[in-house]
Amino acid sequence: MMTKLIGPFKEIITLSGASIQGALTEDDLGLIVNGGVLIEDDVIVEVGDFERLKKKADTIDRIKEDRILLPGLIDSHTHICFGGSRAGDYAQRVAGSTYQEILKNGGGIHDSVNKTRAASKEELTDLVKARAKRHLQEGVTTIEVKSGYGLSVEEEIKMLQAIKAADAKIPADLISTCLAAHVCPKEFDNHKDYLNHIVENLWPELKKQGLTNRIDIFTEDGAFDTELSADYLSKAKEMGFDITVHADQFTSGGSRVAVDAGALSADHLEATSDSEIKLLADSDTVATVLPGASLGLGMHYSPARKLLDAGCCVAIATDWNPGSAPMGDLLIQTALLGAAEKLSIPECIAGITFRAAKALNLTDRGRLIKGSLADMIAFPVSDHREVFYQQGKIKPDRVWKSGVCVVG
Ligand code: NIG
Ligand code: FE
Repeated sequence: MMTKLIGPFKEIITLSGASIQGALTEDDLGLIVNGGVLIEDDVIVEVGDFERLKKKADTIDRIKEDRILLPGLIDSHTHICFGGSRAGDYAQRVAGSTYQEILKNGGGIHDSVNKTRAASKEELTDLVKARAKRHLQEGVTTIEVKSGYGLSVEEEIKMLQAIKAADAKIPADLISTCLAAHVCPKEFDNHKDYLNHIVENLWPELKKQGLTNRIDIFTEDGAFDTELSADYLSKAKEMGFDITVHADQFTSGGSRVAVDAGALSADHLEATSDSEIKLLADSDTVATVLPGASLGLGMHYSPARKLLDAGCCVAIATDWNPGSAPMGDLLIQTALLGAAEKLSIPECIAGITFRAAKALNLTDRGRLIKGSLADMIAFPVSDHREVFYQQGKIKPDRVWKSGVCVVG
């Protein structure tokens, strides 16, 4: 088997020994100066001093200018499979309507449902592909993508098939999630009946067609209450799905449901209070914060500092969607959250690498260590602090996915 050495890099941020939960300091970066990465096929064999590794390499991919290397970024929460735009919602919100009022009046998510249903599977595939490609160019090598604008058996399957088709067309890994429980569609007037319909008619099809092994629900006033959510999630668990929850965005309750159900992650958490922070910290559920939604809705950030200090595993994701978070720039959003919430640079990086991997139940990526996938991104700077200091505006100019250079 051939080995290839990539380097030298001014700095390699390996994150080799950084804890999966709690606060982190500069010591947790696992920083290697003048380092190289030795890979074999798609996997890292060794990370260390470039000169020393030269002797072990069959070939060398020599990096000529000053660069730093990080693990490929992981965006563990997106809704990039959608048709149309919600610019109209934005105009209404800045004129004074709230996100929830717009939803209650039949707009918001329902508007995206109409537009997504109107798109063909091929059109949706192209839209997902284009958005994922932009993400990959900005260093995001693993992207979670939710359904949830179909809200019927056929339309949810169409979305998940489009995500699967897009995954096959681009080097980034797309991890799909079924969010049929986003809101109750207009065709049903009873929330419980709708969820039962999904459990009985959609889930077996997801298994049969291998469309996803993840189930999500929006637990919120105007979406699904805590009781219905708990019941839905326990059925999902029984059927062997991994579960995740849209929790505590406007009102609290969802994070408790997530922890009780053994969810991989509870996402949003803008309305999370101290008692729920403790609950999350004592659990195995990742606390995922979504600064893009706070920016989009002009509301406060989730309490990332408090979550970390309490001992939570905090992931940071874009929530890229047509309504609350249309920007979809993981680095900029992480940098803005970090500045506002006083997160250390290692806490920011951990949130979009190995801690985000945990939210997706992936153990093969997120750190630059022996045995991990060679998903790596190089920035044209010589000091890692530049990336967040420059507010995420500097993008990687080389990206490797599974050992293959896909950008640069
Ligand atoms: O995570 N809050 C619920 N769902 C998405 C937004 C979806 C939309 O507005 O289209 C979110 O913010
Ligand atoms: Fe979301």
